[in-house]
Amino acid sequence: MTRHDPALSPAAELRANVALPFGQAVAMPKAVYTSAEFADLERQHIFARDWLCAGRADTLREAGDFLTMDIAGEPIIVLRDRDGRMRAMSNVCRHRMSTLLEGRGNTRAIVCPYHAWTYNLDGTLRGAPAMTLNGGFCREQTALPQVRCETWAGWIMVTLDPDVPSPSERLAAVADLIGPFQMENYVESFREEFRWATNWKVLAENFMESYHLPVCHAGTIGGHVDLLKMSCPEGLPAFNYHSILKNDALDLALAHPANTRLQGDQRRTTWLLSIYPSLMITLSPGYFWYLSLTPDGPGHVHVVFGGGLAPDFAADPASAVHFTRLKTLLDEVNIEDKGCVERVYKGLCANLSAPGPLSHLERPNYDFARYIAEMIP
Ligand code: FES
Ligand SMILES: [Fe+2]
Repeated sequence: MTRHDPALSPAAELRANVALPFGQAVAMPKAVYTSAEFADLERQHIFARDWLCAGRADTLREAGDFLTMDIAGEPIIVLRDRDGRMRAMSNVCRHRMSTLLEGRGNTRAIVCPYHAWTYNLDGTLRGAPAMTLNGGFCREQTALPQVRCETWAGWIMVTLDPDVPSPSERLAAVADLIGPFQMENYVESFREEFRWATNWKVLAENFMESYHLPVCHAGTIGGHVDLLKMSCPEGLPAFNYHSILKNDALDLALAHPANTRLQGDQRRTTWLLSIYPSLMITLSPGYFWYLSLTPDGPGHVHVVFGGGLAPDFAADPASAVHFTRLKTLLDEVNIEDKGCVERVYKGLCANLSAPGPLSHLERPNYDFARYIAEMIP
């Protein structure tokens, strides 16, 4: 087992940790979760460099539908423009730098709440009051800086990095695993945001192992799974995954009778995809839910939590009943997870605590640690 060496930086401790082969793997060093210095490195080298998820494309259907988010400290607007194109751009005014839009909604134009400079949906400046006497002002040359935005499998993906390869390239192998599920057709019917008192990686890691299901979720879904029927293969460079064969306890976890795309065991398989760094997707034949995480210092995480039914359950005459059952269950499961991940963060901050060895069912956690180590110089 690796020992904590106070002379090493958190990044150096992490490199020593991931140098162990998986058969001897140990949970990540405590400082990787608790150090403000490491949280800054993550912001710079992970959150400003990789693809982050803004939500589901079907939630921004009409021209002017928008949402706002924060990427590595940058306020960003994501919207559907007049040509039907999904765009992302800076959410900061080109006058005296007020932020512009808040929350989510629909707007005909982006109007600054400070002095009413007004931008078109493509980010170009439409008008600015009382600016004709400043010879240096040029409306035509003023626009909100654009940010890369692509739709992948129904997800809106955004990055500040001009060079990272597109999601369709980086995540091509996802389609090989779950192609017949047609994830792009799943429709979001709820989306919520909350802030939990834990490091973002504790929540990500909680998602990527189902070792905790029988215990942490004993009151809800613990009985739907068998630890012996989980498969945790080695991850790929841009994501890790595992799958669970569900029993008959919950019909929504099984393919709808009208679903003829899924065959054999796939009809009862739930996939758990962790798209690095911070999009966690549960995809089952009957429903999906996801978490998109934004760190808020080392000790808090901002979470977007969304999901809905598979298209055939949504088209079923009893869809409202199915959805209520699903949402009630997911809310209960979420409360159980909140307890687990907040307790872990409390333990990580204790003096007598130390990271312990990983189960073979925590293979994705080991792969995630290697991704983090690779991204941090
Ligand atoms: S800061 Fe936006 S109009 Fe002045
Ligand atoms: Fe959980």
